[in-house]
Amino acid sequence: MQQTQICKKTVRDVDVHAKRVLVRVDFNVPLDEARRVTDDTRIRAALPTIQYLREHGARVILASHLGRPKGKVVESMRLDPAAERLSALLGHPVRKLNATIGPEVREAVMAMRPGDVVMLENLRFHPEEEANDPTFARQLASLADLYVNDAFGTAHRAHASTEGVAHYLPAVAGLLMEREIRFLSRAIQNPERPFVAILGGAKVSDKIAVIENLLPKVDRLLVGGGMANTFLLAMGHEVGESLVEPDKVDLARDLLARSGGKLILPVDVVIADAFSAEAERQVVPVDQVPAKWRIMDIGPETVKRFAEALQGARTVVWNGPMGVFEFEPFGAGTIAVAHVVADLPGATTIVGGGDSVAAVEAAGVADRITHISTGGGASLEFLEGRVLPGVAILQDCD
Ligand code: 3PG
Repeated sequence: MQQTQICKKTVRDVDVHAKRVLVRVDFNVPLDEARRVTDDTRIRAALPTIQYLREHGARVILASHLGRPKGKVVESMRLDPAAERLSALLGHPVRKLNATIGPEVREAVMAMRPGDVVMLENLRFHPEEEANDPTFARQLASLADLYVNDAFGTAHRAHASTEGVAHYLPAVAGLLMEREIRFLSRAIQNPERPFVAILGGAKVSDKIAVIENLLPKVDRLLVGGGMANTFLLAMGHEVGESLVEPDKVDLARDLLARSGGKLILPVDVVIADAFSAEAERQVVPVDQVPAKWRIMDIGPETVKRFAEALQGARTVVWNGPMGVFEFEPFGAGTIAVAHVVADLPGATTIVGGGDSVAAVEAAGVADRITHISTGGGASLEFLEGRVLPGVAILQDCD
């Protein structure tokens, strides 16, 4: 399915006063061994919707998944840490329930007053959630008068709480969902030009659909990370022991031929004699990678070339690191690109995907990025031009 212009009704377009509102949030957040939330970005991102609903007298019933418990109760995946953090951020109690559906939930929901916030237990403790079971969806829907989806990070999943439930209740977008859709859809449907995309990450196979969708839309497409190696191979360069996908070399050659010069690849690389943070390092031009070495990052000349290609850009979309970012000595290219993107004057800059988001944070420039997506897989599918089921099911603007 191809995307058309997306405009969805939001919480602002409906009367929420005194209504019971089921809000799907994505509180799939990392926890440490003591079960403390180590990154509350996704919880903070849902605050505007929750606050809006409370201020307008709604009764807020929150539903989320956490991890992949595969349809069983897993004690370490209960949502209590997320509820505690939300409560602290809101400055208001959040009543965490130990069940997702059933009599305890119904009783708690019926007792709610306007402004109250209740959080259901992890949706994925029920196999019916991922199966998008209509009975389970109807049970969730029966708790509320209105459904709000604010879980952009899970909008690429057609699950009972992201898609099924919307068949039984009026369904609108939350304010985070609205923001994500606005930035991502404007970038790929109606970008201010020049429009430059930066793609990285380990494998070209993960990004083929994104490249195919973006190539006709962008003015330039910069490719770094492990995925660039397959392109370098397709250009006839030796890449030593570098990660490559031999079965994608023909495709890379075809994309290069079709790109009309829009694809910009590394000209120099940081190589290592082993896949290790402690390995020996060297910077070499892309046509001088020795047989036993492997490409681990883009080199300084490439950073310059990418920076030049980004100058004057009005819209930038970035997904995926430029090298083996998790090893500090091979993170310089990604950090440098983060600075270049953040420093672009007047550009709308959008960053998605776990590692590139971590990079803008590590570089200390997150506050100078226009929009940091809370969706990894979801933002990638959006850039592929796919319609996300959790978005498609929401009511369209009039
Ligand atoms: C995510 O973290 O990408 C979302 O919460 C979706 O999680 P999932 O990949 O387990 O469906």
